[in-house]
Amino acid sequence: MGSLTLRRMRLTPAMRALGREVSVTADKLIQPLFVVQGIGRREPVAGLRDVFRETPDSLAHQVEADLGAGITKFLLFGVPAQKRDRQFDHSFAAAQVQALKRRFGAYVWLAVDVCLCSYTTHGHCGILHETRDHVANDATVDALALAASAYAGAGADCVAPSDMMDGRIGAIRAALDARGLDRVAIMSYAAKFHSAFYGPFRLAADSAPSGEGALRDRASYQLDPARPKDAFMSALRDHEEGADILMVKPGLPYLDVLKDLSARIQRPWAVYQTSGEQAALELLVRDGLAEAERAQAETWTAFRRAGADMIVSYAARRAREILAAS
Ligand code: PBG
Ligand code: ZN
Repeated sequence: MGSLTLRRMRLTPAMRALGREVSVTADKLIQPLFVVQGIGRREPVAGLRDVFRETPDSLAHQVEADLGAGITKFLLFGVPAQKRDRQFDHSFAAAQVQALKRRFGAYVWLAVDVCLCSYTTHGHCGILHETRDHVANDATVDALALAASAYAGAGADCVAPSDMMDGRIGAIRAALDARGLDRVAIMSYAAKFHSAFYGPFRLAADSAPSGEGALRDRASYQLDPARPKDAFMSALRDHEEGADILMVKPGLPYLDVLKDLSARIQRPWAVYQTSGEQAALELLVRDGLAEAERAQAETWTAFRRAGADMIVSYAARRAREILAAS
């Protein structure tokens, strides 16, 4: 008399494969890219394996290598040399978009991050009010719509506002439509939390905030980690304003939010496995405490289980090794 019950489905690779409910494939992954104006050669990003602050030349080579590795979807962050407080110049990032799309055409899907924190002298995601004690919402939204138009006009497939101002999705949609760019998608960082897991990114993108009082950090515009209801309202609002894709960010600490929102709002859902999450994983591996590929694959599976249709990951370009090991 046997006593196997649930274990029978776990006994062989064939049974395990047949029983699986979710899968991760390279076509669900989006690779972030940084391109920095005025650096002579590309630079590594502290804490993130195989991730660089690219020059315009190295950017094209990296994308070519990524295509060879089966990665075709990208999220570009442009970092200008000159910082300003208003009247931003988006021509550097727009030129990179144009160059990539000219070279790779429809072989790449290119989303461009829309924010101002890499552009401002103070590192905040928007324009300061003239009293210089808070980020002004509506002036920022106007500036974001101009940025999104510049990237979309240069050929981006998608624009991805990460600023967390109110009303930006509607304003960006209207600005794009008015320019005949109605086929360009919007991926909204809808549920973006005020997180401690953005560290390596801020060095890579020159975007650490500075200031006092309300300007000490980004808590006055990013979501409070203890208020998931705000994430729901923010996602619902962005859905109603016309976002095509909604995002939860960071990933692992917010799986509950991802699961809840993706069940309640029927749009494609993205998750952003942030730079700090990635660096944490890589520290485990560095100290011999986890296997790189298996640990990475396990996090991606968790995102799919929680309802993510797509995953932004710094390790996307290593997907072949990662998915083969799992
Ligand atoms: C800036 C922005 C951030 C990220 C994407 N866009 C960081 C922040 O809000 O400070 C996070 C990316 C990461 O940590 O990988 N608007
Ligand atoms: Zn920002």
